[in-house]
Amino acid sequence: MANMKTLKLTQPDDWHLHLRDGAALAAVAPATEAVFARALVMPNLKPPIRNVEQAMAYRERILEVAPKLDARMTLYLMDATTPEDVIEAANHPKMIAAKLYPAGATTNSDSGVTDIEAMDPVFAAMAEHGLPLCVHGEVTHQDVDVFDREARFLNEVLNPIVARHNGLKVVLEHITTTEGVQFVQSHETNVGGTITPQHMLLNRNALFQGGLRPHHYCLPVLKRERHRAAIVDAVCGGDHRFFLGTDSAPHAKGAKESDCGCAGVYSAPNAIAFYAEVFEAAGKLENLEAFASLNGARFYGLEPNEGTITLEQVETAVAAELPFGDTVIVPFRAGGTVAWRVAN
Ligand code: DOR
Ligand code: ZN
Repeated sequence: MANMKTLKLTQPDDWHLHLRDGAALAAVAPATEAVFARALVMPNLKPPIRNVEQAMAYRERILEVAPKLDARMTLYLMDATTPEDVIEAANHPKMIAAKLYPAGATTNSDSGVTDIEAMDPVFAAMAEHGLPLCVHGEVTHQDVDVFDREARFLNEVLNPIVARHNGLKVVLEHITTTEGVQFVQSHETNVGGTITPQHMLLNRNALFQGGLRPHHYCLPVLKRERHRAAIVDAVCGGDHRFFLGTDSAPHAKGAKESDCGCAGVYSAPNAIAFYAEVFEAAGKLENLEAFASLNGARFYGLEPNEGTITLEQVETAVAAELPFGDTVIVPFRAGGTVAWRVAN
């Protein structure tokens, strides 16, 4: 392979990751640790991570199975969260954000916030003490079309929060629409957005390709092609406000292939390779490093990592299934191939 194309990057970080707990945690955390230096770990366990003490105990459990992964932790915002909870988190170096799940929006969001306006004292404390707000940006009313929930949330909920709280740093997580892209781009500072591999690679046809495809089901759900194209344009074009957050969200095979299947795409094992495919297809491989390794760290006020990884352009098989505790998990693009791999 004398002419194999390679690409050296500052070691990347994953700014949106679900690791679960127990045997599931042990099954998935090493795949992230193998490639990413840091990960922002989502708090939607059952019960959720609602204070610093619980977050640090969880972080210890993560380090037991992935000792090289510098896990950064998030606080799960609930109706009962107080400004004191926020201040305690803001003062802890490994706690770097709080996550807003509107109650009922997604997996393990039952304890999420029911009255977002009532959270103003918490948001004010976050702005004052410099704790960024990571947002699952979807309204939850059953009368709103599922494909419109992100755009409606931006108009009705998130723009007013940003307007009321000068200095609050906000991440619109897993952006799926042109409106989401424009929301981020309409703010010069303090607003960022994470992008998943599946929302750059797939549109909503992938949910129905030759039959119902539960492994492409995540929330927010995949959108029309024009939304995917707008995300790719903005992100591959080098806009520094967007950064890598896989939203890798493992669920057992049986929980996905079910009459009421769970939302979540498990992309961690090949995540950086999927992003490389997208940037290469856009002719913008030179912008991958900023997206994967620089923009997120800058947003969170952290230094880039010192290490590097090297990507090799080699067609690489994706496992059909992977071990997941006493069951199995089906990764993104299971049984297919991906155009890149990480060199050893
Ligand atoms: O698809 C998703 N899965 N979206 C989320 O917001 C949560 C996640 C999970 O935890 O499974
Ligand atoms: Zn998520």
